[in-house]
Amino acid sequence: MASKVFWLRCETKEFERRSALTPSTAEQLIKDGFTIYVERDQQRIFDDEEFGKVGCDLVRNSSWPSAPLDIPIIGLKELPVSNDPLPHTHIQFAHCYKGQAGWSSVLSRFQRGGGTLYDLEFLTDATGRRVAAFGFHAGFAGAAVGALALASQKQGQKLGLLEPYQNEAAMVESVKTALGGSGKGVKALVIGALGRCGRGAVDLFRKIGLDEDDILKWDMAETAKGGPFEELLGVDIFVNCIYLSSAIPPFLNKQQLEAAGTQRKLSVVVDVSCDTTNPFNPLPIYNVNTTFAEPTVSVDLSQGLPLSVVSIDHLPTLLPREASEQFSSDLLPSLKEFPQRETSRVWTDAKKLFDDKVAEAVADLAGS
Ligand SMILES: NC(=O)c1ccc[n+]([C@@H]2O[C@H](COP(=O)([O-])OP(=O)(O)OC[C@H]3O[C@@H](n4cnc5c(N)ncnc54)[C@H](O)[C@@H]3O)[C@@H](O)[C@H]2O)c1
Repeated sequence: MASKVFWLRCETKEFERRSALTPSTAEQLIKDGFTIYVERDQQRIFDDEEFGKVGCDLVRNSSWPSAPLDIPIIGLKELPVSNDPLPHTHIQFAHCYKGQAGWSSVLSRFQRGGGTLYDLEFLTDATGRRVAAFGFHAGFAGAAVGALALASQKQGQKLGLLEPYQNEAAMVESVKTALGGSGKGVKALVIGALGRCGRGAVDLFRKIGLDEDDILKWDMAETAKGGPFEELLGVDIFVNCIYLSSAIPPFLNKQQLEAAGTQRKLSVVVDVSCDTTNPFNPLPIYNVNTTFAEPTVSVDLSQGLPLSVVSIDHLPTLLPREASEQFSSDLLPSLKEFPQRETSRVWTDAKKLFDDKVAEAVADLAGS
């Protein structure tokens, strides 16, 4: 069995305040006999001292390249761009298994260094479902941004810069205030309501005060008849939270919106699923991802209310504390098995995938 140890590295992506380990999951690992090194990090939502108090060893920011090679490095997002070989074992989201830009160069860094990548996106349970994902808070935050966009629109304004909230209660209060004290009277429809993101969106709408009857919850059964759906035109906010796996008819399209003219109530579409550039995108009414700086994009229509789309692809970053807690707790049982990674299924599957992807990357680079 490998030793019980992890090194939590800092995140370097702009706006990223989430963390793969939290003080509470680190504490549970320590109780289980692990040693946890934590890089000091001003950007992380948790203070360094919160980790220190539960017994973690605080180390210098970005010092993981000089960590002993037998200590696994855990983080969330991509490593800073470089061509340096990677000799360590890394647990993180690397976004290099689906042919993303630069995928083979990233994998070649591991291959050249003799390191290993265990990609968090591909850790699955025996039924194939991801062991940890950020969905709930993506839906929660997406619904909040949708409600904020509606509030701005009602005042004839466009929603401005978004910044991460200290916690969920602060987000809920800010949305309620923007809506004049409560969301009561607003009508919303969530598609994919039985999934992780969908449940989060429904939860936010409840917490800001929408009546239960004004939160329409659709999943496979309700969309089986095939879109476009006229029902979407009759709500203020529509939140799309589906996991798109095949071609489906669009939920909404431009002709339908134009035909509704001034009869349309729909004012904000939040595309949490963000299949923006997917050829089967069920929302062919927009084609860009929006950002914290510019959270909405307008749909160009000849009449009726303005219609804004929110299509931010890193929504959980708006709730870094709760999103980290949930993700890290879901990951914890697998982390406890990491010292047995040579035999533990969740990790042997992830290692096999890594080996396959490295072989593809080597072939790709040899052919280029
Ligand atoms: N924007 C972001 O920041 C962000 C963050 C996390 C996840 N996501 C994305 O959100 C999507 C959903 O993730 P999840 O974790 O909630 O998935 P999930 O599998 O937990 O839930 C998806 C739900 O969609 C339903 N569904 C699928 N196809 C449908 C259809 N045609 N009609 C109605 N319902 C349908 C499923 O039955 C399921 O209930 C994924 O594409 C994911 O990549 C986005």
